[in-house]
Amino acid sequence: MDQQLDLPNLLRSRLTMVATMAALKAGELLKKGFGTETDFKTKEGRHNLVTEWDNKAEHTIIDFIKTHFPQHGFLAEESGESGIVKEGIQWIIDPLDGTVNFVHSIPMFSVSIAASVQNELLCGVVYNPMVEELFIAEKDNGAYLNGTRLHVTETAVLDSAICATGFPYNVHENPLCCLDHFNTFAKMGIPLRRIGSAALDLAYVAAGRFDGFWEVSLRPWDYAAGRLLIEEAGGTVTNFQGEPYKKFDEGPIVATNGILHDQILKNIKATMEKSSKE
Ligand code: IPD
Ligand code: CA
Ligand code: CA
Repeated sequence: MDQQLDLPNLLRSRLTMVATMAALKAGELLKKGFGTETDFKTKEGRHNLVTEWDNKAEHTIIDFIKTHFPQHGFLAEESGESGIVKEGIQWIIDPLDGTVNFVHSIPMFSVSIAASVQNELLCGVVYNPMVEELFIAEKDNGAYLNGTRLHVTETAVLDSAICATGFPYNVHENPLCCLDHFNTFAKMGIPLRRIGSAALDLAYVAAGRFDGFWEVSLRPWDYAAGRLLIEEAGGTVTNFQGEPYKKFDEGPIVATNGILHDQILKNIKATMEKSSKE
């Protein structure tokens, strides 16, 4: 074997390339489906929608990856776990993040694809096909938007920040105080956004468009690629206790430029304490 070849690095770039191509393919497909009359069903709660396009995009991604890496496993939103994780690599896929926007012809959704090994992220891609924004991160090699290196913001004061959040589908009865958190930050008078695609929210933190983002409960396919984007852009991603993610669990997430992390966490913790007493 050629000793000059750095195989892990080579593998990482192959993974990144395949993830990118898969995201572009799925994005093209979603663009075709966007704005057409689409059948949708509900799952786990009345507003959690799934369309034929979620499934088509997921098949496109998994089939494409399998042609390059037949030995890899998958954790995908619509089909769950599949494949044998023989080489230890598992792909984490949200084929359409922002289905509610898609169904209502709001051009704000994304494809999110990450590759991981033993709970460590190797690459992550988030693609918004409607504006052709392609966010790519590779472990130790940085995060990029359409080829330009990304860095989180340097905002140091919460009062000068712009933040984003998302709500779970059971927002009206969720026990995790999502509306209380929203209230806390809204009362500070800072700009807040809820764009409807957690993968894009995270990519925007990496790109310095948002200073921070939180959501009370996300699934691995919502945050895997976005988490690596932020880490590679110099930001911080933890749970509400300030602990880094050790596994790809479902749970609360706080993602920031790093500088504001403690200030945002402090407010989240105070809100939880206050709500638990009421
Ligand atoms: C949803 C979006 C939304 C977030 C929800 C997610 P989906 O994903 O990312 O922004 O608030 O928690 O479930 O259902 O559109 O793939
Ligand atoms: Ca999602
Ligand atoms: Ca989805």
